[in-house]
Amino acid sequence: MTEQTTVTRRDFGLAGVKSLLTLSLLETIFARNAWSAEVQPIAAKWVADLNELAGDVKEQRISQVAWQEKVQELYGQIELDELMQFVNFKNLTKDLKFVDHGARSLQPKFPDVEGLPKKLVFGKQIFAIKQGQSVVPHGHNNMATAFLVLKGELHGRHYDRIEDESAHLIIRPTIDRKFEPGETSTVSDYKDNIHWFKATSESAFIFNIHILGCRPGSGLPTGRVYVDPNGESLTDGLVRARRLKYDEAHKLFG
Ligand SMILES: [Fe+2]
Repeated sequence: MTEQTTVTRRDFGLAGVKSLLTLSLLETIFARNAWSAEVQPIAAKWVADLNELAGDVKEQRISQVAWQEKVQELYGQIELDELMQFVNFKNLTKDLKFVDHGARSLQPKFPDVEGLPKKLVFGKQIFAIKQGQSVVPHGHNNMATAFLVLKGELHGRHYDRIEDESAHLIIRPTIDRKFEPGETSTVSDYKDNIHWFKATSESAFIFNIHILGCRPGSGLPTGRVYVDPNGESLTDGLVRARRLKYDEAHKLFG
């Protein structure tokens, strides 16, 4: 009799625990699905808007400088949590190994959801940088790009590219400040062309889109042009920045 009572109690207890577990699991699943159902259309619409704007600058319907303003407005309209959920940031950064010099480029994927454009005009990546390392100083040709800080803190610097010389670029500092999550910056052939972002927190992550070939006829390759911004000071705040090769840029500023 005693034994039977004990068993009954244990069974009852186990059933209770099972119910609680089931309920908790159901709640978690429901909350996640509800969250996804709520967030995905918002994020998909945001990507569609980003794509339309990218098409506008690629086809010269708007100037690169106008694109720089508009893309920063759009970047300000997405909640970082929503974007990070949309690109499955948690999974993307699982077992992440940072590089010792420079930034690791992660390749996020957008989920195949309704409302997402079938073809994207822009390329995308997420830079993962450990403390003290950088997206090293470089400019671009024939390319527009926009940064959105997802996580961590960085020291961000931009420079206008005033003139190209064979071994140097003449540049002028335009931005030099701390960047926190949610903050943005952009590059084009015409404004703030050179950028340099150094992680000041334990790690930092930057979402980045880029649009190639938005200056037809420029004749210049779209690759990076590495420079040393700590060059000779000229008049009017200008600096003569030496052109660098990839290895030297990462050795000096990684
Ligand atoms: Fe860049």
